[in-house]
Amino acid sequence: MPGFARLTATFATLAAGGALAADPPPAPAFAASNLSPAGVRSMAANCAACHGTNGRAAPGSTLSGLAGKPRDELLLALTQFKQGQRPATLMHQLAKGYTDEELAALADHFARQGRDR
Ligand code: HEC
Repeated sequence: MPGFARLTATFATLAAGGALAADPPPAPAFAASNLSPAGVRSMAANCAACHGTNGRAAPGSTLSGLAGKPRDELLLALTQFKQGQRPATLMHQLAKGYTDEELAALADHFARQGRDR
């Protein structure tokens, strides 16, 4: 029964993995920053699900749009979220995923959006 053999092998692998659980975990592989224009646009796309396409909140959304807000206001909010200094349901977690340089690039990006159109 080849299927059974494969299943047994899988369990053996899992068991071996369990036995190694005391070893220190490997260092996390953080994604490298990409602050090129295309890289910043990709990062900004992560915000669209909640804040709207191109930082413009969908009609009726309870979330604020980001486009065209002053850069300093955006960066202050993001920095305070990251440092746990601004009340949040989720932005405090999300902001921690970005370096300070990335947050600055995002603030720049959204602040410009209002002006370029
Ligand atoms: C899963 C939904 C979600 C995503 C994705 C998301 N946000 Fe938010 N954002 C929120 C919510 C909800 C708030 C209100 C604070 C809170 O409850 O965390 C908020 C608040 C903010 C604020 C403060 C706005 C204000 O008017 O005070 C800024 C700035 C902001 N987000 C920027 C971003 C940026 C930049 C990204 C992408 C890197 C992003 N958000 C991604 C949900 C999201």
